[in-house]
Amino acid sequence: MDDRALNLRLHAACSIAAEAGALARHLFLNRPQGDYALKGPQDYLTEADGAVEALVRERLATVFPDDGMIGEETGGSSAAATWIVDPIDGTANFARGVPHFCVSIGLLVNGRPELGAIAAPMQNELYAARRSRGATLNGRPIRAAATGALSEAVVELGWSPRRPAADYLTMTERVLASGASVRRAGSGTLGLAYVAAGRSDGYAELNIRAWDVLAGLVLVAEAGGLVNDFFAAPDWLTGAPVLVAAPGIGAALSEIVGIPLSTAGS
Ligand code: IPD
Repeated sequence: MDDRALNLRLHAACSIAAEAGALARHLFLNRPQGDYALKGPQDYLTEADGAVEALVRERLATVFPDDGMIGEETGGSSAAATWIVDPIDGTANFARGVPHFCVSIGLLVNGRPELGAIAAPMQNELYAARRSRGATLNGRPIRAAATGALSEAVVELGWSPRRPAADYLTMTERVLASGASVRRAGSGTLGLAYVAAGRSDGYAELNIRAWDVLAGLVLVAEAGGLVNDFFAAPDWLTGAPVLVAAPGIGAALSEIVGIPLSTAGS
């Protein structure tokens, strides 16, 4: 795919993410308390997930009818260029009235993460990145933190029932023992975006879905952070480990959580 086609897609991803974010914000502010269902243990579903995914799917299909799209709620199929979309990442937060969630739209071209846009509508924040073209937050360049030691680092850890609680506890214990402080804010996508923006120094999760991380991986790599080669895992569509980190602590954190970092960037 040439430069012009990729640029067009980055602009479209940003404007669709912003529009989808505005819809998510409206639905969040007007939702009745307790209005959610569970797809499984701790796996929340709200009406907003479906409505936002339908909007993104319709917009992408209109502008790029030959591209594939895979969404968290309604699946889809892949093509040479495939959009991977999480309509609401941080659904449990959304469902329980916590304003920390986002819309994530990423593009994979021939298996390689090329670009992503993430809208966090309650904070009026729009993150965007394209491979080799940098990462921005509301149009301004962002950089991963210059943190040089785990004793001053803030690391976010994600958890889901896809892995035993014991694995999560072991990882948490090892990170705490390293001297880093541990955060869990409930949106893997924003966890990655916060590393890109220098607000955290790392994000690790033992099994996470591609729609939670694609856009964020491009963002972190373009902000000068380190990322693992998520899409090299043969089963990435059903879940794989993720690790992103500020450059000064990446090697040490990788050793502690047992997730190798990519040597070639995203
Ligand atoms: C979840 C969140 C959570 C992460 C889980 C994801 P969802 O996505 O990103 O932080 O730990 O692995 O499944 O359900 O809110 O879209």
